[in-house]
Amino acid sequence: MLRLRTATDPAWIDVVLGDFDAFLIDHAACERKASATALKLVAHYSDRTVLVRELIPFAQEELEHYAQVMDIILDRGLSTQADEKDPYVGALMKLIKRGPEQFFLDRLAFRAGRRGARAGAVEGLLRRDHAV
Ligand SMILES: [Fe+2]
Repeated sequence: MLRLRTATDPAWIDVVLGDFDAFLIDHAACERKASATALKLVAHYSDRTVLVRELIPFAQEELEHYAQVMDIILDRGLSTQADEKDPYVGALMKLIKRGPEQFFLDRLAFRAGRRGARAGAVEGLLRRDHAV
C-alpha cells in the first residue's frame, strides 16, 4: 500500500462518526475503485512484468477490503449508491502530466494508491480509537 506523506487528521474521526453510514458507503467505493484501477493498469500495461506482479495481489487485497466493508454495509441494511464525480479527484486528475511515461506514473501513484491509502488510514484510526 502507498504510504501517505502526512498523518490522517484525527478530526476526521468526528466527521466519520457524524455520519458513519455515509463513511461506510464512501469507503466501500474507495476500496472497489482501488481494486478496479489496479486491474485496469494491469490490462493497460501488461508488458510491465514487475508492475503486473505487484498490482494483481494489490487488486486482490483491495477487493477483499471491499468485501469486508460491503458485509458491514449489508449487515446494517444499507446499500451502495452510484458513483458521483468528486471535484477534488477531478482537480487532482487535471494535474496529471501528459506524455505516456509521466501519465503512467502519475496515474499509478494517484489512482491505485491514494484511494486505498487514505481510506485505510481513517479506518485504522477508527479501529484503534473507537473499536469500530
Ligand atoms: Fe483497502
